[in-house]
Amino acid sequence: MTGPRLLNKVAIVTGSSQGIGREICNQFHEEGALLVCSDLRPIGQGEDIPTHEFITKKGGKAIFVPTDVSKAEDWKALIEKTVAEYGRVDILINNAGICTEANNPQPIDEVDEDAFDAHLRVNTRGVFLGCKYVVRQFKKQELHPCGIRGWIVNFASMVATIGMAGLSGYTASKGAVAALTKTVALDVAKQVTQTAMLDNALGGALSSARDAVLAALPRGRFGETKDHARAAVYLASEDAAWVTGINLNVDGGLTAQ
Ligand SMILES: NC(=O)c1ccc[n+]([C@@H]2O[C@H](COP(=O)([O-])OP(=O)(O)OC[C@H]3O[C@@H](n4cnc5c(N)ncnc54)[C@H](O)[C@@H]3O)[C@@H](O)[C@H]2O)c1
Repeated sequence: MTGPRLLNKVAIVTGSSQGIGREICNQFHEEGALLVCSDLRPIGQGEDIPTHEFITKKGGKAIFVPTDVSKAEDWKALIEKTVAEYGRVDILINNAGICTEANNPQPIDEVDEDAFDAHLRVNTRGVFLGCKYVVRQFKKQELHPCGIRGWIVNFASMVATIGMAGLSGYTASKGAVAALTKTVALDVAKQVTQTAMLDNALGGALSSARDAVLAALPRGRFGETKDHARAAVYLASEDAAWVTGINLNVDGGLTAQ
């Protein structure tokens, strides 16, 4: 039996007031995280209590910071308030997003240009700014005791890989998030300071190629068995109940290049 998986990790969740973001806050609290809820406003549609108050009532730790993710000034203030409250940031969940086209899908020749730009501004620029300013903070602070500098989870969508008629702004914005995520992973890969470990696949005949293989790994180290076991635990658990048919690359960023 293991303990809570996010014990005392400081997590910023954007778009926290309703939907998926609110449930992420709930589950992160259950796993021991200290929360920073951020959204345009504290109460989401159909909710009667702000997410941070809901968490606090359950005995958790949570604050709310009003944030428009498309504004750099808001991101700076969000990170500053998080550090003032908890001393550091461990996790950023870039969940906030809009899909106003869902109510009014238009073929490409009819698309309203302001609506297109709005999707890119919130869904893509919002994720870009979040990555930029949280990585700045990650670099300033001590590593987490487990040796990792920080975690960023970006919400894209299946429309990053398939088209959806009438949703040009949303699909373009999410495709950009998927591509950006790979680049951010490569930009920060070398910040991880864990040392290289023995890799069974590099024993024997391949041992002479060890340095060349290592140089190709963005994370700067070989995988350990526990890296793969952890991914397997996730996929085999109820946490992955809605995940199926995916290729989850547990490869230190090799195929992101
Ligand atoms: N619901 C789905 O089936 C689905 C599928 C794939 C991806 N997603 C993605 O998951 C994320 C959450 O989706 P959801 O269904 O919970 O959406 P939702 O509309 O229920 O909630 C989105 C939240 O983001 C907030 N938000 C919007 N613009 C913002 C801004 N500029 N700054 C800060 N916060 C802002 C909203 O206020 C809202 O609380 C989105 O990125 C969405 O694209 C959702």
